[in-house]
Amino acid sequence: MSDTPVDADRLEVVLRYHRRTKHHPDHYARSLGFMDWANQPDPFRRFAGAPLLRLAHPHDDPGPTYDALFDGSWAERTTAMSHAPAQSGAERAPPQAGAADLLRADQVSAFFYYGLALSAWKATAGGRWSLRVNPSSGNLHPTEGYLIGGPIEGLTERPAVMHYAPFEHGLEVRRWIEPASFRTLCEAFGAVGLVALSSIHWRESWKYGERAYRYCQHDVGHAIGALSLSAARLGWRLSLIESVGDTELVALLGLDAQTGVEAEHPDVLLAIVAPDSADHGFFSGATAPHTPGWREAIGRIGVEPLLGEPKGLSRAHHPWPVIDGVSRAGAKPSAADCDPTDAHGPSGGVPGHAAPVPEWAPAWPGLQRARRRTLAGRLIRRRRSAVNMDGRVRLRAADFYLMLARTLPSAHHPVWRGWPWPARVHLALFVHRVDGLAPGLYLLVRRSGAEDLLRGLLSREFAFSGPPGVPEGLGLYLLQAGDCRATANAICCHQEIAEAGAFAVAMLAEFGPQLTSLGPWFYRRLFWETGLIGQQLYLEAEAAGVRGTGIGCFFDDVLHTLLGLEGQAIQSLYHFTVGGAVDDARLRTLEAYGHLDRV
Ligand SMILES: Cc1cc2nc3c(=O)[nH]c(=O)nc-3n(C[C@H](O)[C@H](O)[C@H](O)COP(=O)(O)O)c2cc1C
Repeated sequence: MSDTPVDADRLEVVLRYHRRTKHHPDHYARSLGFMDWANQPDPFRRFAGAPLLRLAHPHDDPGPTYDALFDGSWAERTTAMSHAPAQSGAERAPPQAGAADLLRADQVSAFFYYGLALSAWKATAGGRWSLRVNPSSGNLHPTEGYLIGGPIEGLTERPAVMHYAPFEHGLEVRRWIEPASFRTLCEAFGAVGLVALSSIHWRESWKYGERAYRYCQHDVGHAIGALSLSAARLGWRLSLIESVGDTELVALLGLDAQTGVEAEHPDVLLAIVAPDSADHGFFSGATAPHTPGWREAIGRIGVEPLLGEPKGLSRAHHPWPVIDGVSRAGAKPSAADCDPTDAHGPSGGVPGHAAPVPEWAPAWPGLQRARRRTLAGRLIRRRRSAVNMDGRVRLRAADFYLMLARTLPSAHHPVWRGWPWPARVHLALFVHRVDGLAPGLYLLVRRSGAEDLLRGLLSREFAFSGPPGVPEGLGLYLLQAGDCRATANAICCHQEIAEAGAFAVAMLAEFGPQLTSLGPWFYRRLFWETGLIGQQLYLEAEAAGVRGTGIGCFFDDVLHTLLGLEGQAIQSLYHFTVGGAVDDARLRTLEAYGHLDRV
């Protein structure tokens, strides 16, 4: 986008926010400094007066194995199966949305059950709290999910904008919409339905103060990843729609009716693409700008009456104007507000169009971990953050390489195929205990061609050597051999999990120049990319029999100094650790939906 004065101002607001919300060893980003328990926000938004459509819990549908989601075979099979009679067996393909593009209630239920639902409760003598399929910083869950769809066989005969209520596993109807308007949207985006996410910044800022906006963005990335994998289980794919701006998303979801600290802020719109959806190219969901009518359709939907009123989340609030400011400055403009000849869109030319995903073809068959038949659904629902790690478990080299390979963009990847941007986040790896690899600091370059950029920016003392045994084509470099456990611990706000795992990660985003050329709104995309990587690492850790934990608390510039980074060309946005988990024996685990039997 051309760098108008307004953009320069907005960019400055975002960059200033980023600088001011860094944690430093001698002072943390501003927060309240104590826990205001009396005003802890309710983690479950409900709309009083909105009809609730309860979703039946999925039967024990075996679905595909986790690994089958990644080799392309499951997608091919579900496409073929959508025209074939149903089979029985461990990897039976789910029935598909047909040519009529009709979603069914059981599909929608499974989509959320393996995407955003509760997955367990933890209990101590003092109380209990719920956990979800998607992780969240501080377990505060600022992310709200919406489905725009209908008719849905067995659920609703009319299209509607529906808010997902994870406590009930149901959908609250926020507004009914005219079938013609919904059809226009589906045709424009090559979709059978749409999913949207929004964030209630207050849920995170209540605890974390000014840095909370960053955490909300990580959580959005995790939620996109969780929903994409759940979609893949059903043979669908999710595709990020970049042509719709925040103003239009607000209108579509009815968020303009929300004001004040507890308001939801628009994040992302995703197309649900089923095998039989009209083919608009690989990224069907991103082809909107030249498909007429979607903007007018959103305009018509935006004036349909809203049902229900948001219930309050807290009695009193503490304002965080810095978050309001960065939220305004980082808003996503609509495609129509962009000059189509500039670098605003993923293709570098036309907003909303997707760049071709680089087809990196790792030798995955050679990277197979010990053949596990873990079902995707079970693995997804048992994902957990490790609270402590044992400092002992070693990772097999093949598991480690496969984990890294699965964070790379690939046209067959159930998550990355819907992400319309080239990778802009690279991984600095603190390797502690991986078979066949010397402990030390490593770098995974996630976009081929970015090696030179990183070499030019990172410390000249780094070796940049290719470690022996690394699969060909995997851009993994040894920077510096040596025990880096204490360093990883210290950088992650002295959290022991960063040194007691098998490895820890710092996610390095190509930052300043990207924001200058693409616009301040791209700040959120960089965080989402780190959330997507984190979600992948969580699931890969489960698949390898270990655990992961996202790490939002780290001393930004201590890491940058360690790597020899100066200025803002590269910034670390998120950290992560993977290793052998130590469970807290004082906690009991309860059924995710046992509470519904009691209400
Ligand atoms: C963005 C993000 C940042 C996080 N930061 C930390 C952290 O700094 N330290 C930590 O122990 N856990 C951290 N976590 C883990 C959360 O506490 C955990 O996801 C939450 O308690 C829910 O538990 P679950 O992941 O088992 O569902 C983070 C998670 C996310 C998604």
